[in-house]
Amino acid sequence: MANRKLIAGNWKMNGELSALAELDAIGAAVDDYPEVDIAVAPPFTLIAAAALRSPDLIIGGQDCHANVAGAHTGCVSATMLKESGARFAIVGHSERRADHHESDADVRAKANAAIAGGLTAIVCVGESEDQRDAGDAVAVVEAQVEGSVPADVDPAMLVVAYEPIWAVGTGRTPSVAEVGEMHAAIRARLVATFGEAGQGVRILYGGSVKPSNAATLLHIPDVDGALVGGASLKAADFVPIIAAAA
Ligand code: G3P
Repeated sequence: MANRKLIAGNWKMNGELSALAELDAIGAAVDDYPEVDIAVAPPFTLIAAAALRSPDLIIGGQDCHANVAGAHTGCVSATMLKESGARFAIVGHSERRADHHESDADVRAKANAAIAGGLTAIVCVGESEDQRDAGDAVAVVEAQVEGSVPADVDPAMLVVAYEPIWAVGTGRTPSVAEVGEMHAAIRARLVATFGEAGQGVRILYGGSVKPSNAATLLHIPDVDGALVGGASLKAADFVPIIAAAA
């Protein structure tokens, strides 16, 4: 049975208070497309306001620390996110792996912390352009899944997002065959880890998803939704992507 689709927006370091107005139009899609789960990860500073303003949307964080509390200046814990109204945390985004030198072990620890704190963990994986050109993409991503996705958690609290680094913010996407091959490989790893329950872990595609390519990407087998960056900032772009998932 196909998994319920999840369309998640990652606002990255974009969005001031005025951006919350976009949530009203995005929130209207909850009634229009009840068969789709709709999520938005605004900056930390907007989470509480977003959750209050748009209780029908699934609001989440873009990261969380592996610890519950302590001397970690500038960091935010899963407990803090949850208390602010977040229901999920993205962990292991390629921008954090690159900018903050996060390893698979770091990402796994964050995913564990998110789940322990009552949040769904969206664990990101994806190969570089050099790795794809070398023919290593599937092996690289399989190793990331192995290293980053916790094996001893409730799989219902997990989502995996495949985001090829070279497709993020570039306007380029892998072919249908390449996405299908990768999602099938990730699915196989999840089933190896969780048994039949691995079929229910949603696998999102991310990287230059936009209204014009969403339907194609979202109908590839084992693509259970999308993690959307730039096109999630404006309801005029994001809602058609949600519609394509319905
Ligand atoms: O997490 C979503 C993201 O990395 C994809 O960004 O702008 O290519 O949709 P974008």
